[in-house]
Amino acid sequence: MEKVLHHNNWGLDTNPKGELTVGNFSTVDLAKEYGTPLHVLNELRLEETARKFRENIRTVYAGKTSVHYAFKCNSIPAVIRILRSAGLKAEVMSEFELDLALHMGYEGEEIIVNGPCKTDSFLHKCLDKEVRLIIVDSLDELQGLNQICVAEGRDADILLRINPDYIPKGMNSGSATGSRKGCAFGLDLKGGEVSICVNLLKEMKHIHFHGFHFHIGTGIRDPRDYSRALRCLAQLCSIARTAGLAIRIVDIGGGFASMTTRELTNGELLFYQGFERLPSGVKHDKYPTFEDFAREISNTILHYFPMDELPELLYEPGRCIVSPNQFLLLTVHRVKERPGVRKWLITDGGLGTVTLPTFYEYHEVLLCNDAFRPRTEKVTIIGPVCFASDIVYRNKLMPRIYPEEVLAVMDSGAYFTSMESSFGFPRPAIVSVNRSSHYLIRRAEHFKDMICRDFFSNQISEEVHHEICGH
Ligand SMILES: Cc1ncc(COP(=O)(O)O)c(C=O)c1O
Repeated sequence: MEKVLHHNNWGLDTNPKGELTVGNFSTVDLAKEYGTPLHVLNELRLEETARKFRENIRTVYAGKTSVHYAFKCNSIPAVIRILRSAGLKAEVMSEFELDLALHMGYEGEEIIVNGPCKTDSFLHKCLDKEVRLIIVDSLDELQGLNQICVAEGRDADILLRINPDYIPKGMNSGSATGSRKGCAFGLDLKGGEVSICVNLLKEMKHIHFHGFHFHIGTGIRDPRDYSRALRCLAQLCSIARTAGLAIRIVDIGGGFASMTTRELTNGELLFYQGFERLPSGVKHDKYPTFEDFAREISNTILHYFPMDELPELLYEPGRCIVSPNQFLLLTVHRVKERPGVRKWLITDGGLGTVTLPTFYEYHEVLLCNDAFRPRTEKVTIIGPVCFASDIVYRNKLMPRIYPEEVLAVMDSGAYFTSMESSFGFPRPAIVSVNRSSHYLIRRAEHFKDMICRDFFSNQISEEVHHEICGH
């Protein structure tokens, strides 16, 4: 039998009508007032999660620590504002994210820059804005950055991103960013690319090396995965030492799981996408805390560095901070049944528009208007797009559901809003909730937003275009 987490796991409650509530507000009322699809952000819980993460990292390590929130995970400005006030710095991977970080008030020295495709113009901008660290992803990028610095007499502070060729047990191939064969990220440790870069660095007078970075994937539930990946530090330390370089910073990336969702394994993905067998949900009642992760990582670092040479530890969490603190409301508009074949719940959001991560992750789906109705039938929950794969979940065990009832996809804080699309439908609004109020932090897209990048002067006069788009 499928195991369903209790709504308390997300800090939700119920009212006397049996409706799910967040803060003091009924999710059904929120859906009515703002319309669906609608993301709901639990702002107090988000702030608390971020502070706790930072606190736990700090208390278990004798050296310096910094937490750089991975903007890619959820770049809603109101979310970033909360995380910034909780003391998290920024990790960005594109010019857009860099602009956003600066716009949100971050100083260059609080920003680190990742990503495999840093163009020359992006690197220029990073130097102009004096970002704290550029995390170099390839030999080619290192040489390109050096050329810019030499030509313009500028300096850059860098880490080298390493591909440790380590895949946490059970992680699907799409998430395994530390795999040598499976993805292009980072310098190939086994192939000797790291040694080549380190040797080049000796001659690069404008490039200042501070240490190493890796990011081994997402949805990691076992703290020991970090120590296993950190084993490559022994080799890195000796490469750096031989070249006369000190390791002052070790950046262990992000990847910490949200304990209320989970990534599907390769096998589960195969069975689910190929044979429609949806695996069961989150299995563990007991799961590692931030402190467990932090302690394991700190102890492993202590193993490789003497106390008086402890490097600064950088963390780049995304998912574990934001995921459990936002969810997505969908309305079931139609119910369709082909007896003996299948029953569909037709909602206003699926992976074609707003739930892309449900393709490869397990998320719980709750009934908002009757939280305790028993789960009695398997249904396929789909979205509104004319696209056979516009599905939330196939064969999901749910209560009997009727048109106009409201579902909550738990949780939607990580990578949902980042990856949503306007495939035939406007992108949804986001509302933020605290104990005493709720308010829009992003309005839904309008027709105008969906069309104002287009030039269609053959069909329409300039005045009409101006009237629709305002430019
Ligand atoms: C370099 C880097 N750091 C941090 C993260 C954040 O990962 P997560 O959301 O799993 O914590 C990512 C995600 O892709 C990443 O690529």
